[in-house]
Amino acid sequence: MPGFKTLDDLPADLAGKVALVRVDLNLPMKDGSATDVTRVEAAKPTILELTDKGAKVLLLAHFGRPKGQRNSTMSTSFIQDAVEDVLGKEVMFISEVSGPVVEQSLGILRNGDIGLLDNVRFWPGEEANDPEFARAMAEHGDIYVNDAFSAAHRAHASTEGLAHLLPSYAGRAMEAELKALDAALGAPKQPVAAVVGGAKVSTKLDVLQNLVGKVQHLIIGGGMANTFLAARAVDVGKSLCEHDLTGTANRIMDEADHAGCTVHLPYDVVVAKEFAANPDSLRTCNVHEVEADEMILDLGPQAVEALGDVLKTCRTVVWNGPLGAFETEPFDAATVALAKTAAALTEGGSLTSVAGGGDTVAALAHAGAKDDFTFVSTAGGAFLEWMEGRELPGVAALSS
Ligand code: 3PG
Repeated sequence: MPGFKTLDDLPADLAGKVALVRVDLNLPMKDGSATDVTRVEAAKPTILELTDKGAKVLLLAHFGRPKGQRNSTMSTSFIQDAVEDVLGKEVMFISEVSGPVVEQSLGILRNGDIGLLDNVRFWPGEEANDPEFARAMAEHGDIYVNDAFSAAHRAHASTEGLAHLLPSYAGRAMEAELKALDAALGAPKQPVAAVVGGAKVSTKLDVLQNLVGKVQHLIIGGGMANTFLAARAVDVGKSLCEHDLTGTANRIMDEADHAGCTVHLPYDVVVAKEFAANPDSLRTCNVHEVEADEMILDLGPQAVEALGDVLKTCRTVVWNGPLGAFETEPFDAATVALAKTAAALTEGGSLTSVAGGGDTVAALAHAGAKDDFTFVSTAGGAFLEWMEGRELPGVAALSS
């Protein structure tokens, strides 16, 4: 586990100090309102701990991808209400990230107050990680706290550059993420299983390659499994399948063999002739019995039972991606069933379960299993890059 400072390393009294706190407030929006405030809730303990200690907190965040230009539709002022609601405190919106406006605002804020700076990506220096831009922001702060694991795969001024300019600390959410991820792949309890699902192998090649050297069981689901089945000469009918990647799939399976990692592919599947909810053509069959006009849309019940048995022999599972087309019934069945098994084993104390990335949180929430997992990351791209075994610049900068 890399050494980094946490809020425990701060003095008890921060009165008169300004904390620049990088948070991820990239919230999903509909009709001008945030539809999911999980990321604000994740940052809340850090923000309130700092304000309780008397610091003036300046929240630094990106919102969308404005590409280095002011864009009135992407101002963080749109998320001010959501932040105030979750924190239960007033937050002052500040239309800049550095300079006299910030300085004047700091003159108005009292100890323990919170300011929300505008979208840091309005300035080209952010994504360019321009040291001058970082220095201009650093001028206003006494300490830098990074609580945005989900943006830590970006080497930007607010996620990386600032950490070199001010005394830097991991916030509580960042700390929890890093501890959970370490427990999953850094120094996990063995044996370890990885569940990797999702539509395409091509988006997760590096993930699979990294995992075969680290886990004892690699469970492949979703559309990706079809490519692996095709690589094993299974006729997958008109299923989603990257036929051009069967060679790569075979190479990954060979590497797994050498590394002592068992790759689990389904032996029964749920198929239909059309992709719709509860279609008439729905049936369950052995993978070798898929007709030319059918597509595989979920793993079958025997496969799910066998995978549940695999999880029962494991001490750790790391999960990314659904096993079937889980947004359409009944193709959510395998994801729901295996997630429930993982949740029950976690509750029973035999399994540490860590999940994250894109659709995964939604799939686990749909299964009613999310709260029973040991840890569910709110990160998308950052979680995937971590699963690829890459060093995340925002995390590395905190450790240096
Ligand atoms: C996210 O929403 O996953 C993070 O905020 C990162 O956003 P980005 O992909 O625009 O850097």
